[in-house]
Amino acid sequence: MDDFDASQSAARMRDAEASLTGLRERFTTPDDGVYMDGNSLGLHGEDADRALERAVDQWRELGIEAWTEADPPWFAYGERLGDRLADVVGALPAECVAANSTTVNIHALVGSFLDAADGTDVVVNELDFPTDHYAIRSQLAARGLDPDDHLVVVESDDGRTISTDAIADAVDDDTAIVFMPSVLYRSGQLFDLEAITELAHDHDAFAGFDLAHSVGVVPHDLHFDGVDFAVWCSYKYLNAGPGAIGGLYVHEDNFDVEPSLAGWWGNDDATQFDLDTRFDPAEDASAFQIGTVPVFSAAPLFGTLDVVEAAGIDQLRDHSLSLTRYLISLVDERLPECSVGTPREAERRGGHVAVEHPEAGLVSRALRDRGVVVDYRPPDVVRVAPSPYYVGFEDVWTAVDELRDILDADAHRAYADDDATVT
Ligand SMILES: Cc1ncc(COP(=O)(O)O)c(C=O)c1O
Repeated sequence: MDDFDASQSAARMRDAEASLTGLRERFTTPDDGVYMDGNSLGLHGEDADRALERAVDQWRELGIEAWTEADPPWFAYGERLGDRLADVVGALPAECVAANSTTVNIHALVGSFLDAADGTDVVVNELDFPTDHYAIRSQLAARGLDPDDHLVVVESDDGRTISTDAIADAVDDDTAIVFMPSVLYRSGQLFDLEAITELAHDHDAFAGFDLAHSVGVVPHDLHFDGVDFAVWCSYKYLNAGPGAIGGLYVHEDNFDVEPSLAGWWGNDDATQFDLDTRFDPAEDASAFQIGTVPVFSAAPLFGTLDVVEAAGIDQLRDHSLSLTRYLISLVDERLPECSVGTPREAERRGGHVAVEHPEAGLVSRALRDRGVVVDYRPPDVVRVAPSPYYVGFEDVWTAVDELRDILDADAHRAYADDDATVT
């Protein structure tokens, strides 16, 4: 740390030397502020705009013919996006499809894999994003399995992270599925997907993952790691806009798993318009689509995947790691009242940093009012996500400098009597 330079000019030097800086111009930062919330909602950009406008033009010019005549045909949106998402998550094209939302995909895949499994239990962890538990509990209940008995919740030793050993201790021969996040939404811990998959397979269980906080910022190797299934959203680091279409992956060895939430969009394309009342599922991951693809929620992703491909997912990860490493060093150097709740090792760190402070809610609001957009995750985390697509080192420096200023002036206390919340 001795040679760490915490000055603003050093931050500028880092920006001047950084790769990927050209991407920033493709995005719009509201009010020219400092946007550190790309892990909640990625920023609007010209690539998403262009792709969305194109779909609107096709609607205007082609009407219903756009389902087959647009380029690519709307009918094939899920599969064409899936082909491109496969490169982002390390899968074969047939193993990925853009469809539904994250929560719906958890319902669809956990339910289907529960039916296909020998065991009856699903192993999750206590630090998960709540929607995962809601969906899994309801899928267990729908099968007559009491969620209080069959949802096995791994506990955290430190309230921030989950160890692979603790997951291993929870898995046994009753386990049907080990379902974990790739990155914890609060602390930003990155899980070892390969090790977790291996320990699930040792007990003949399936391994599934929620990639919401890693897709587009951390490269994956889902196929090679033998991961059975995964789900994600496109509105965080993939920047495809609020409520954008979700994505899913199913390993080719599991193409025989039958969708338990069947719908006509998952039918084999060749027979979909025969309109037979018997479901004839597609022979790959596309079988897990349910209803008509939401064209305007999917179109922006064509544009934002251009950005991912132009930058390269490995380069995005390198830049993200440099930004979070720099942020952690600045917190250590300038904010002794705060602690870093995110693992420091690069291989255990996702794309954001949990800056902990006992009054994190008030501090988050004070930061937002000064143009630094972060979010608060109770009880004590200010989540800071320097998205590598549009955040630079000087932005990180400014965020920490404003936080230093707020704490010095006790400016956050001004919010103590006002009970508005930060989302
Ligand atoms: C880990 C995780 N899963 C799921 C979701 C949300 O799911 P959905 O896209 O269905 O709203 C979030 C939202 O932030 C999340 O952090």
